[in-house]
Parts: sequence; C-alpha cells; structure tokens
Amino acid sequence: MRKKTIKDIPNLFGKKVFLTVDFNISLENGHVANDTRIVEAIPTIKYLLSKGAKLIISSHLGRPSGHDPNLTLKPVANRLEQLISKKVNLIDRYWEKSALTKINKVPKGEMVMLENIRYVKEEELNDRNFSKHLASMADYFVNDAFGTAHRVHSSIVGIAEFLPAFAGLLMDKEIRMLSEAIEKPKRPFLLIIGGAKTPEKISVIEKLLDIADNIILGGAIANTFLAAWGFGTGRSVVDYEMVEMARVVFWKTTRKHSALLLPLDVVISDKDRKMKPQVVEYNKVPHHVAIFDIGPKTMKNYQELIREAKTIIWNGPMGLYEDPRFAKGTDSILKHVAESKAFSIIGGGDTLTTIKKEYVEKIDHISTGGGAMLVFLENGTLPGIEVLLDAK
Ligand code: ADP
Ligand code: 3PG
Ligand code: MG
Repeated sequence: MRKKTIKDIPNLFGKKVFLTVDFNISLENGHVANDTRIVEAIPTIKYLLSKGAKLIISSHLGRPSGHDPNLTLKPVANRLEQLISKKVNLIDRYWEKSALTKINKVPKGEMVMLENIRYVKEEELNDRNFSKHLASMADYFVNDAFGTAHRVHSSIVGIAEFLPAFAGLLMDKEIRMLSEAIEKPKRPFLLIIGGAKTPEKISVIEKLLDIADNIILGGAIANTFLAAWGFGTGRSVVDYEMVEMARVVFWKTTRKHSALLLPLDVVISDKDRKMKPQVVEYNKVPHHVAIFDIGPKTMKNYQELIREAKTIIWNGPMGLYEDPRFAKGTDSILKHVAESKAFSIIGGGDTLTTIKKEYVEKIDHISTGGGAMLVFLENGTLPGIEVLLDAK
C-alpha cells in the first residue's frame, strides 16, 4: 500500500493546508511531559512552511469524558512555537463561519492551530457538515496523525471527501516501518501489551493471536485478564465490561499456536498508594489492595521471552509508571527490549513518555501510535489511511 505524500503536491506556494496531527501528549501539572509526538511532526510542518503554504493545524488532546471539561492545547501550541521558532496562534470557536475570515488572513509560510477538536461534538460523529466546514478552510488536506488514524472522525476521515488528501512524512514513515514488521516478521514474534485502554486493545489481542508467537500482558489490562480467570484483584483497575471478552481470548488461545502470558507476581498497595509497595503472587491479592505493577518474577520471565524474540512490538506501560515506585516493570521491559537484537517497535502516547533518552537509538522504530499501531498491525490499514490518495 502506497499513498501520495506532501512531496506529491504540485504547488504549495500560497496554498492553505489543513494539517491534522496527533498532539495528544501526556501533560504533567499542565506542562508537556513528553513532546515526541510534536517533534515527529516537525519535518512535515517545516516542509509545508518552506514551500510557502499556510497551515491550519488541528489536533485533539485528552477525552471529553475525562476529568477536564475544557482541556486546552495552549501548552502544546507553546511547545510547538519553541520548536519551530514561529508564532502559533490558537483559534477558538472555529466552527463558526466568522472564523474563516481569521484563517484567510494567515500569511504565506505561517500557521494557526485550532483549539482541541475532540471537544467539538461533531468531530467524533464524523458529521458531514462539520467535515465540509473544516474543508472550506483549505485547498489541501494533509494527515500526519498516524496515532489517531484509527478514529473515524471529521478531521481524519470526513474532511477527505471534500479536499485532495495526502499523507504527511510521519504518516508515510509509520506505514513503511509497521508494514515491514507484519509482512514477513522474523520469529519468534513477541507482542507486549500493557496500559489501561482495555476495550480497544483487547479485540486487537484476539486478532493478533493469529500473528504473534507470544503475547505478554501487564498494566491494568492484565488485571482484567486475572479477574476473568477468576482470581481476586482487590481494588485494582479492572474493566469489568471486558471480562467476558477476556474469556473469549482465553478460549481462543487454547486453539491457537500463540501463547498468552499473565503476570506471575504483582506489586500492590492500597488504593491511595499510601501503603509501602509489596510483592505478592498473582493469585494472592488481598481484597483491600490494588495492583500497580508487575513483580520481579514476572520481569524475569518476560525478560527471557524478550531475549529469544526476533521481532518485538510493545505498547502500554506495565504499571502505574507515573509513580516511580511502580515504574520498575515498565523500565525492565524497556531496558531488555532496547538491549535485544530483535527488530523492535515501541508505540503509544504513554509508552513514549516512559522511554529514557539513552534507549531511543536502540529501538528500530518508535511509533507515535498506540491504539492506532495495534489496529494497523491487525488490519494492515486504518480508516484515516484509506481516505488518502493512492500513489501510482
Ligand atoms: P498507551 O498510551 O501507551 O497506549 P494507555 O493509555 O493504554 O497506554 O495506558 C497508560 C496508562 O495506564 C497510564 O496512565 C498508567 O498509569 C496506566 N496503568 C498501567 N498499569 C496500571 C495499573 N496496574 N493500575 C492503574 N493504572 C495503570
Ligand atoms: C492515542 O493517544 O492513542 C491517540 O492520540 C488516540 O487517542 P484516543 O484514544 O483518545 O482517540
Ligand atoms: Mg495513553
């Protein structure tokens, strides 16, 4: 599969480009905790600006269902300004026609950024009128948001009905690297899954049972699998609605060649994490505590599988890494994946935040996609890629 990229756009001088990026990054006390997703989109932004285009940049941040009802892209826009040494004005109320006048005034080689698009309800609905309105801002649509290309939203899919649609340089790189991993993976192929977005990751695990030789689990998603097996998980984060689905995965595993591994031991504390962390066996979690990381025995077990693997794909932290006391499992996985000789890909918003600088060079590809990367591995394409123009 090859898609037209920004290099195929014949004349960008003075043209307006609606550029979707995935700047959904981790924030710590309102500050950017990790700017990888911004840094990775800079080549596309610089290329378009250097050709004299006017950019309308769009991204989402967080989810409206989360805690902050008005999550602003301000810290993200500030970081982009620093990285690119150019002004980035945020445009609010851009769903109103009057915003178009402001957007029309953007000079050549300059850009504006639309406020958090996920908080406009029409976006998630892929509303046709909203998509058309977004398209009316520009001459071309460029998607560099690999990390959100699994979402059927207006700024990702809908807009492409109304404008010629091209891949950004990051999107192009992601497609090439991930295709290489799935087309002819060297075996054993190890998949490491952690994190908390259980509903979307669980169906992918089910599909990847056909592709991977070993799948190892950690993080909150592993809690759901332990609960599905019938073990007590106390007050851990468990997605009870997904327990049935986890059972389907167990059942399927018995009929497939691939193995699914769960933690042998876990690190626990009370719900408020006031109690000193303690290691217990997977089946001895007291009812008044919660699981926050994988234990040392599990790390050792996983480490051996990492050593044997020839292809490794990892998404999702093994524990509540934001608290350093529960980051050991994630750190251990990172260290061993970086040291292994396997072809390695690591992806995911939070997973990227956990990568220490000294390991970056040792990973073959650091993907900006988490859920998107997994769905791409499952299907070999994504809705946001499908709508881009095919290269000859
Ligand atoms: P990614 O962005 O890399 O795809 P997710 O968004 O799915 O990963 O999950 C990351 C989140 O999962 C982090 O905020 C982390 O604290 C949380 N998490 C991982 N393990 C646990 C656990 N045992 N209990 C609670 N939260 C956890
Ligand atoms: C991600 O962080 O995986 C992407 O930015 C997509 O975010 P979403 O799961 O909220 O759509
Ligand atoms: Mg995340």
